[in-house]
Amino acid sequence: MTKFKTLDDLGDLTGTVVLVRVDFNLPMQGVSVTDDTRVRAAAPTILELADKGAKVLLLSHFGRPKGEKVSTMSVSMTLDSVQAVLGREVMFVPEIAGDVVRQSLAILQPGDIALLENTRFWKGEEANDPDLAKAIAANADIFVNDAFSAAHRAHASTEGLAHLLPAYAGRSMEAELKALEAALGNPERPVAAVIGGAKVSSKLDVLTHLVTQVDHLIIGGGMANTFLAARGINVGKSLSEHELAATCEGILDAAEKAGCIVHLPYDVVVAKEFAANPASLRICNVHEVATDEMILDIGPQATEALADVLKTCRTLVWNGPLGAFETAPFDAATVALAKSAAALTREGALVSVAGGGDTVAALAHAGVVGDFSYISTAGGAFLEWMEGKDLPGVVALQQA
Ligand code: 3PG
Repeated sequence: MTKFKTLDDLGDLTGTVVLVRVDFNLPMQGVSVTDDTRVRAAAPTILELADKGAKVLLLSHFGRPKGEKVSTMSVSMTLDSVQAVLGREVMFVPEIAGDVVRQSLAILQPGDIALLENTRFWKGEEANDPDLAKAIAANADIFVNDAFSAAHRAHASTEGLAHLLPAYAGRSMEAELKALEAALGNPERPVAAVIGGAKVSSKLDVLTHLVTQVDHLIIGGGMANTFLAARGINVGKSLSEHELAATCEGILDAAEKAGCIVHLPYDVVVAKEFAANPASLRICNVHEVATDEMILDIGPQATEALADVLKTCRTLVWNGPLGAFETAPFDAATVALAKSAAALTREGALVSVAGGGDTVAALAHAGVVGDFSYISTAGGAFLEWMEGKDLPGVVALQQA
């Protein structure tokens, strides 16, 4: 992995103005933050810089206001949550550049923290406009990027600033990049990937890339149905993208050529209706699914076999649930395999990295979040990394 600078490369920062790109794009219900995980992830970086004497300016996007000032998308909505997590008072500044920021800096003391407005209120943010980046940089001495989950965006605050100021990875960015490197960059082999979720179409590039990188590809969720159907198996009423049969065949061929073993379920949990504990629930071989049934989870025998596969592996990358995990009992395979991975990780036999979309919720449901080696809070950025793409925010740090 190309090197990048970290907070270890910074000494005393008394009076230095540090811009920290965080990702406070937090899930909300009305005016309340429902999950402050991303604030907790950024807190060590923010507090370390403040404790080194810096004047810390936090920069984040929040929602997708598309260059307009939308009051319901003001980053100030996150202020209470940010202050609660940091345990410090944080000044809110309704601008990201110019005189208002300058005047705020005159008030801030070394060690103080301010939260600047939503970067996406300015059109130049998403356009990565050098003039906007220069205007933001003009008030600061150093740039720290601690927002891996926004690193797939080549925006002024994620990419542009890194070319204008001395740029460093924050603690959360550093941990994320180290974990990802251990998982797919230079992993201990054999490597397994678990890829679940509803649709093959949303993860085509992930699957295509992974078959060339991993030794075992475990496919679950609705995606597995599409692969089973492509192999000529009747999947009944199951969620399945039949039009992708040829694409799935192509991925299976590429896997075979690359020596990657693809694991599809051979027993499944089916029901005639999608509801909690439906009367029609049964477990059957994949070849026995009736035309009025749908596959809602991987079966117990396949799950046990997959746990045995994990026992032979040293590294695991996990994205997406194996079944319709929000509804009991279709969470069984996800929970069982997650617990197997967690136990192997605890024993020191497996490096386990997970992330993207529903994955964190699925693993939290399985009660294993604390046991995986690393769980990324990133959604789109994690998927793009799994596709083997360069992330502009990371590349800019490596070039800095
Ligand atoms: C996320 O929530 O995944 C990141 O904050 C990126 O948000 P975006 O998809 O609006 O760029």
